[in-house]
Amino acid sequence: MRNETTIILNNSQVADDIFRMTVKTKSIPQPGQFFMIKGLYGDYLLPRPISVHDYDDGKLVFLYRVNGHGTKMFSEMKQESAIQLLGPLGNGFDYESFQGKTAIIGGGIGVAPLLYLVKKLDSKNTDVFLGFKDEVYAVDDFIRTGATVKVATEDGRAGEKGYVTDLIDYSKYKTVITCGPEVMMKKIIKSCIEKKINVLASLEERMACGVGACLGCVTKTIHGNKRVCKDGPIFDGRDLII
Ligand SMILES: Cc1cc2nc3c(=O)[nH]c(=O)nc-3n(C[C@H](O)[C@H](O)[C@H](O)COP(=O)(O)OP(=O)(O)OC[C@H]3O[C@@H](n4cnc5c(N)ncnc54)[C@H](O)[C@@H]3O)c2cc1C
Ligand code: FES
Repeated sequence: MRNETTIILNNSQVADDIFRMTVKTKSIPQPGQFFMIKGLYGDYLLPRPISVHDYDDGKLVFLYRVNGHGTKMFSEMKQESAIQLLGPLGNGFDYESFQGKTAIIGGGIGVAPLLYLVKKLDSKNTDVFLGFKDEVYAVDDFIRTGATVKVATEDGRAGEKGYVTDLIDYSKYKTVITCGPEVMMKKIIKSCIEKKINVLASLEERMACGVGACLGCVTKTIHGNKRVCKDGPIFDGRDLII
């Protein structure tokens, strides 16, 4: 983990309220890790946690949705602006231990931490399921990995009409990875537990420190309270109390 002041190489809008920011970094992150990021100037004090969307040769990519004050400020930052990164943080995916065919299931901005993971996996053994309410984003980047990609939108404007969870035949998979709205992840975790499939979920909680010190981000597990920033954000679905 390092505290790094660096510069934005690119920050552009890719869909309604969705932005893609590329920054230079000296860190080498693992898939599933995140950075606490903040601009050097502005009127907010706390950094915001944003996942590693992609990484290649010193270039780190974030995919983020404008949610409130902090992310709105990120969206207004220009190329060459200075930005502060603390990270990489969190446990990340232990992807080398994945066995058999893997399903990667992302919903909405929950697709963000999954691209870099898919790039590390064997594309022949990986199926990606991406669900969106209406407008889609990042889909072409997932297709470029060579994995099989299926898309669902609630309004039917791309891919199948309906929920992404309706596209999945769980019996094909040994491992399922998910990130997205809580209701989607709960449904997926329940299905996997019933069918005895390994399931990992990338969780989100509001964070203040990002390094395990403030206990502001705890989630309940069968092993007691765990800090999403330090013990996660990746958890075994079977450990979560949902
Ligand atoms: C480990 C981790 C990785 C993340 N990765 C990404 C990512 O790659 N891309 C991305 O777009 N977002 C990501 N997020 C969510 C992102 O951090 C929040 O959207 C952001 O911090 C909100 O800050 P804000 O100042 O824009 O909004 P605020 O003004 O702080 O909040 C706006 C609204 O969002 C709610 N909110 C804020 N944070 C969260 C949260 N963590 N979970 C649920 N609701 C929240 C608030 O209650 C409020 O209603 C991640 C969060 C975590 C914990
Ligand atoms: S954000 Fe402080 S312990 Fe997790």
